Amino acid sequence: MEDTAFEIVGVRGLPALDSRGRPTVKAIVETRGARGVAIAPSGASTGSREAVELRDGGRAWKGRGVGLALSRIETVIAPALVGLDSRDQALVDSTLIALDGTSNKSFLGGNTTTAVSIANAKAAAATAGLPLYKYLGGPAARVLPTPLMNVINGGAHAGNPLDLQEFMIIPVGASSLLEALRMASEVYEDLRSIIAERYGKQATAVGDEGGFAPPVSRSREALDLLVAAIEKAGYTPGSDFLLGIDAAASQFHRDGAYILEGEGLKLDRSGLLEYYEGLLSDYPIAYLEDPFSEDDWEGFKEATRSLGSKALIVGDDLYCTNPQILAQAIPEGLTNAALLKVNQVGTLTEALEYSRIAGLAGLRVIVSHRSGDTEDPFIADLAVALGHGLIKTGAPARGERTSKYNRLIEVEDELGSAAKYAGKEPFKSPH
Ligand code: PGA
Ligand code: ZN
Repeated sequence: MEDTAFEIVGVRGLPALDSRGRPTVKAIVETRGARGVAIAPSGASTGSREAVELRDGGRAWKGRGVGLALSRIETVIAPALVGLDSRDQALVDSTLIALDGTSNKSFLGGNTTTAVSIANAKAAAATAGLPLYKYLGGPAARVLPTPLMNVINGGAHAGNPLDLQEFMIIPVGASSLLEALRMASEVYEDLRSIIAERYGKQATAVGDEGGFAPPVSRSREALDLLVAAIEKAGYTPGSDFLLGIDAAASQFHRDGAYILEGEGLKLDRSGLLEYYEGLLSDYPIAYLEDPFSEDDWEGFKEATRSLGSKALIVGDDLYCTNPQILAQAIPEGLTNAALLKVNQVGTLTEALEYSRIAGLAGLRVIVSHRSGDTEDPFIADLAVALGHGLIKTGAPARGERTSKYNRLIEVEDELGSAAKYAGKEPFKSPH
């Protein structure tokens, strides 16, 4: 193929709707040979050091309009990217960073740079005639990630009184991704019927990430529901399924205390650690994300020291996918795993650097959706490309979640006998 086929000839933006019904940025990058389209997702429980979204303010779209972001694409980004080689992702992204000129992407908007950066990678892959996971991950990419499936929603993602944000099932006992999804779908069905039995049919409505949002207030009630659903579906908690929690603890940290309103608890750091220790000794929990507030590094250290041999202790708001923050934090031993969300940092190159730094330090990387997401399946390909064997993309329900799972089914099919489902492997010997 002629090399000029990869030259960027156009960059455009369009508004799109996200899964909460709010506007977001769609970017379209065209090369001479093909095009790539990407849509920025949007978080609700955002870390304070995330790249910020550019929003219009005012009355239209309740202040969340992306007109300014789209005009930045047209007037600032497109003129600078046209003529570049789309395969040079690092140059495309460093151009975006330079055009932005701020430390938190506030001039162009992290929503704008994320959409353009990912659309560029997709355009280059399409021009090369390669599936995105192979373009980004090379010919050896073949690991299908174990999904962390948030089937009970709380915190900022639901209207119930659960303080902790996410309760996940992890189908580690499957031998393929498709089997993992079948098992999870069966458990999800049984979870729905158990919730209907215990709390009434009106309690089976779902939260932002497709998980149920029953009117329970204690974490143990949510975990009991998961165990009951796994057993009702004929599986064994602890071997077929592990459990996971994203506490998103920055959300309930106030004036130095951790306030679990639903449970009527006000805990200090050591009280909250004991709370988690109790949960991990009574339930097969192998994944614990953001157990402490993003500024409570001591809390993370203690959690990893005390629970890191049993579970992945994961930094999300803690690191904000920022390679500089991660590099500073690694010598402190805060976690044994790191969440990756491209829009937290704003460009694919920075997210790949974050993944590289984490990998060198022996941290597992989990590729993640946002609570406000779209039909864009990009993270499915990214998870296979990075090969850490973990993806977090919600319940097996709602189109913006299933788009990722359905893409993984395609990738597994395409890889055929070369495909390898990660299963339990990412949970062996965390340190
Ligand atoms: P967010 O939540 O997308 O609302 O930030 C997801 C998470 O905390 O992992
Ligand atoms: Zn999180």
